[in-house]
Amino acid sequence: MTYEEDAVPGETALPAATAARDAALPAACDAALPAACDEPHAGVGKPTAATGLARAQELDAAYVIHTYDRLPVEFVSGAGAELVDGEGRVYLDFLGGVGCASLGHANPRVAAAVREQLGRVWQVGNHFHSERRGELARELSGLLSTTTDEAGRPTGSTSTVWKTFFSNSGAEANEGALKLARRWGDRRLGGASRVVTARQSFHGRTLAMLAATGQDSFHRDFGPLPAGFSSVALNDLGALVAEVEAGGVCAVMLECVQGEGGVWPADLDYLRGVRQTCDAYGVLLVVDEVQTGFFRTGAPFAFQLAGIEADVVSMAKGIADGFPMGAVAARREVADLMAPGDHGSTFGGNALAVAAALATLRGLLDGGDVPERDMAEHVISVGERLAARLAGVPHVREVRGRGLMRAAHFDVPIAGELVRRGLERGLVLNRVGDSILRFLPPLVVSGEQVDAMAERLGALVGELA
Ligand SMILES: Cc1ncc(COP(=O)(O)O)c(C=O)c1O
Repeated sequence: MTYEEDAVPGETALPAATAARDAALPAACDAALPAACDEPHAGVGKPTAATGLARAQELDAAYVIHTYDRLPVEFVSGAGAELVDGEGRVYLDFLGGVGCASLGHANPRVAAAVREQLGRVWQVGNHFHSERRGELARELSGLLSTTTDEAGRPTGSTSTVWKTFFSNSGAEANEGALKLARRWGDRRLGGASRVVTARQSFHGRTLAMLAATGQDSFHRDFGPLPAGFSSVALNDLGALVAEVEAGGVCAVMLECVQGEGGVWPADLDYLRGVRQTCDAYGVLLVVDEVQTGFFRTGAPFAFQLAGIEADVVSMAKGIADGFPMGAVAARREVADLMAPGDHGSTFGGNALAVAAALATLRGLLDGGDVPERDMAEHVISVGERLAARLAGVPHVREVRGRGLMRAAHFDVPIAGELVRRGLERGLVLNRVGDSILRFLPPLVVSGEQVDAMAERLGALVGELA
């Protein structure tokens, strides 16, 4: 079946798709109930009259662990930087599946690659070879050894060879990164095991990544957390040097632009200083590129903006246009400290994820998904336009970030209200603080879509403050 023949996202396909899904629900719910159980669980195991969003909310409340306060909308399709809800309303998406939809929603090239792989084989496990997995790792090595200027324009490449381990998420990629770092400490630094991270950082939700995350609010109630982590203020090189000098450190782990913590960029000079410090003490520089990777900041990876090399790089989000995948790459000298049995993942490098990632990389690299320019140029220019438009929105006191990873910091705590009301105006927005909106649109977002979003946002702020 070709992409064109299948359910191409579009308004005409929507009602049918939604109706078919809703029709399937009652049967699915009944089948899920134990045979001997006449009473629906919590009174909602049997379908009620609710459909669409109301039904989704009902099922969510009854059966899904409440770790997210969801917004009252169900998206059923999308294309590029637009999403469509169950009623057929179209939204401009400035969250991009939380920074994942790099080539945009339902990208035809990625969809076709996954479909093609679906017809072959999905999951055979890591006990067997796969040419495509190796190809993807080789492509990543090339991307990681790219050099760029401070805006992200490519200037050449290093001769460094990178080796990759594939996982399923950002947190899992970071776990792999820190196992590499601990192994480095064990073999090269006399057993050093401490990891220094930055305050306000975010590295994921596993217990070790909560410990690595430099925000106390994530540490409460889940202890004891793994030991060996400390955090210092971002952009304070003196504090970092002092922490490394204190001894026992195997790695420094940083986001080059802190995302979840409020979109706080590391200064490029600071990153250069961190690199020098790591070199001086033989400590690894682990860069968490889960959010910043794959052209989000203009460069293939954000560490490249500083003209430095990292030792270990974790990635996820944009790697496969929203298909779940993570990866950790390391310079060969570090990677080769791992041996069979030291690390693993059942689904890591799954054939579908690899197909999605290869197609995504090709889309990012050949520029075919952004008209008339390459991805770095596109992200740099549309990112600057986004920053300029946000600066013109009333009550914005600061615009931060790089490329298409930006924040508007307001002088009033209206971010939550803007997210809620934005939906009514066809905007998907995201808050990372009471006064901070974060913008992570699909990288294929156009300048016109940026203008339209900023106009609607400006009007909304005018009504609220
Ligand atoms: C910088 C960074 N690291 C790690 C993670 C965790 O990724 P995941 O949610 O895929 O585990 C995130 C998620 O937002 C992130 O932004």
